[in-house]
Amino acid sequence: MKQQLSQSGFCAAFLALVCGSRAAPYVSEPQTTFSQQPTTTVPVVPHTNVTFHGPFEGTPTTTGALSTTVLAASIPARPPPPELLKYPADGKLHGDQPAPYTPSGGIGTNGSVPVYRVASDFDYQSLALALYHEWIELDLFHWGLARFPESEFEANKLTAEDRYLLQFMAEQEVGHATILTNMLGPQAPRQCTYNYPVTSLREYLDFCQKLTRWSEAGVYGFLPHLNSGPAAQLLLQSITTEARQQMIFRQFSGLFPMPVWFMVAVPQSWAWTMLAPYISSCPYNQTRLVWQNFPALHVLNQPNSARINGSDVWNETTGGWSNTLSTQDIARSEFCVNATAVGESCAPGITRNRTEPLSYPGRQVFLKWDDPGRPVGPNNSYVTATEVEVPRFAAWVTQLNVTYSPLEDVNLSNRTAYTIQPNVSTLEGDPAINGTMFLALTDIDLYVTPYNLTQLNPHVAALAMYQAG
Ligand SMILES: *[C@@H]1O[C@H](CO)[C@@H](O)[C@H](O)[C@H]1NC(C)=O
Ligand SMILES: *[C@@H]1O[C@H](CO)[C@@H](O)[C@H](O)[C@H]1NC(C)=O
Ligand SMILES: *[C@@H]1O[C@H](CO)[C@@H](O)[C@H](O)[C@H]1NC(C)=O
Ligand SMILES: *[C@@H]1O[C@H](CO)[C@@H](O)[C@H](O)[C@H]1NC(C)=O
Ligand SMILES: *[C@@H]1O[C@H](CO)[C@@H](O)[C@H](O)[C@H]1NC(C)=O
Ligand SMILES: *[C@@H]1O[C@H](CO)[C@@H](O)[C@H](O)[C@H]1NC(C)=O
Ligand SMILES: *[C@@H]1O[C@H](CO)[C@@H](O)[C@H](O)[C@H]1NC(C)=O
Ligand SMILES: *[C@@H]1O[C@H](CO)[C@@H](O)[C@H](O)[C@H]1NC(C)=O
Ligand SMILES: *[C@@H]1O[C@H](CO)[C@@H](O)[C@H](O)[C@H]1NC(C)=O
Ligand SMILES: *[C@@H]1O[C@H](CO)[C@@H](O)[C@H](O)[C@H]1NC(C)=O
Ligand SMILES: *[C@@H]1O[C@H](CO)[C@@H](O)[C@H](O)[C@H]1NC(C)=O
Ligand SMILES: *[C@@H]1O[C@H](CO)[C@@H](O)[C@H](O)[C@H]1NC(C)=O
Repeated sequence: MKQQLSQSGFCAAFLALVCGSRAAPYVSEPQTTFSQQPTTTVPVVPHTNVTFHGPFEGTPTTTGALSTTVLAASIPARPPPPELLKYPADGKLHGDQPAPYTPSGGIGTNGSVPVYRVASDFDYQSLALALYHEWIELDLFHWGLARFPESEFEANKLTAEDRYLLQFMAEQEVGHATILTNMLGPQAPRQCTYNYPVTSLREYLDFCQKLTRWSEAGVYGFLPHLNSGPAAQLLLQSITTEARQQMIFRQFSGLFPMPVWFMVAVPQSWAWTMLAPYISSCPYNQTRLVWQNFPALHVLNQPNSARINGSDVWNETTGGWSNTLSTQDIARSEFCVNATAVGESCAPGITRNRTEPLSYPGRQVFLKWDDPGRPVGPNNSYVTATEVEVPRFAAWVTQLNVTYSPLEDVNLSNRTAYTIQPNVSTLEGDPAINGTMFLALTDIDLYVTPYNLTQLNPHVAALAMYQAG
């Protein structure tokens, strides 16, 4: 009897169905399902469904980015550490192996126990910024499901299965918020309230594919600079999920899923500039950030991917910095979601060709920018800033490249200018300017590469998302 009990205890804990079939006096159909007690589950960070959406109407109790003693206006360029250039890179081994099948070198490879926490102000501020993004995404994805009726999803050719994917993406954000909160500790930023510049599902999808792009690119910009390798490891494994979300929102929008060979990376202040306007208010003792908020750049003829001819457009954006598409003025015959011809249809799909490109080299792009000094972000408690008085260049920040085109007809009274989209390739066969990318106005054409793009910040006058493809 005792033995039988312990056997059934074993069965309950492990292979209930398999054991059950052994006890039964007949041979059952083969079963592939079995149940198992779940192992201990790590709790997720406390979160609620944000109920308020809309702009902040109150008065900030504090203003400005977090700061301490500032040592200089910018960081001078220096030569690389000489030892970096000494490694021969000839395919041979140049040191004793610490263990079999293990080459010498690497960071965090000597067996020291990894500690998954931030290790510097740089780490803290970067992960806190990423956490602000995870929180907004959690709300944004839930909000879309609640805000738009099933009929509107169906009118845009998205099904119940697609809605479940959106819900699942929201749930992923709970996990991302949890690991970031755990690595930051008790003062980690918490959930805020938000405002979204969209009134139709199509606009929402475009806002989501732009927001996930700047959130993704913002992390790529700092990931290799973090002091804490273990923190970078976990963040890496979250941001690759985010990258998939970005692509899914492009596919929901009927855009070519990845029209580039390399994903763009931008500085933290660029991601914060893009994000902050859509945060209305945060809890009273919310941890503040050090990053800069640049003025908004408005792309007056921002390509509109809901149009069959997306480049044939004037003043169809919403949301300031994000330059999200507006569907308000699109006639039914110009709307691409119900178009059926290949090259015209932008119904959701794994991939879509576009006969009329959204943008192209030689396109005249009309720009208007805001002046600095405007309140923005949580509780309107941050202020847009730039040191640049006269912008002279548009910086096209895509893939691995920053390409400058001169600003023409710069008008400082209404802050307008135009520029011509350059014809530039990252590598042979890969036109650099495509996809969801960044456009900045600058005063000089400073040479920067992906690892030192932040050096451009003192020269940035205004910032936008550009929909190049
Ligand atoms: C938030 O709302 C969703 C439905 O939109 C629901 O599934 C989820 O349980 C809610 N979460 C919380 C924390 O209340
Ligand atoms: C950025 O890095 C590149 C090398 O990749 C270097 O040539 C350039 O001078 C650097 N720019 C600044 C502003 O430090
Ligand atoms: C192992 O490497 C870490 C950095 O990754 C370093 O801080 C530590 O001192 C090293 N330990 C030993 C025993 O060399
Ligand atoms: C597209 O067609 C669906 C019906 O199939 C309709 O509900 C929707 O309004 C149409 N959208 C546009 C922009 O014409
Ligand atoms: C804010 O205050 C609440 C309640 O006093 C406290 O539980 C929480 O830890 C504080 N959060 C931060 C970020 O300081
Ligand atoms: C921001 O606004 C919210 C809502 O009015 C308020 O609860 C909170 O204390 C404010 N936070 C700051 C830092 O002023
Ligand atoms: C699409 O719009 C562009 C203007 O941006 C125009 O040059 C082109 O002819 C248009 N294409 C068609 C097929 O109408
Ligand atoms: C763009 O449209 C908005 C309203 O939709 C209007 O306030 C603004 O003046 C327009 N700007 C231009 C440059 O036409
Ligand atoms: C899609 O576009 C590519 C590149 O322009 C072209 O080679 C291909 O034939 C197009 N396919 C269809 C079905 O239009
Ligand atoms: C952007 O990528 C799409 C998809 O590969 C391609 O059809 C289009 O021609 C590209 N645009 C430019 C300007 O190269
Ligand atoms: C800005 O001013 C110039 C010159 O007065 C004018 O040509 C242009 O139309 C204005 N632009 C806007 C967007 O108001
Ligand atoms: C674009 O970036 C790549 C990689 O850094 C570089 O090799 C190439 O020269 C750049 N192209 C241009 C036109 O700047």
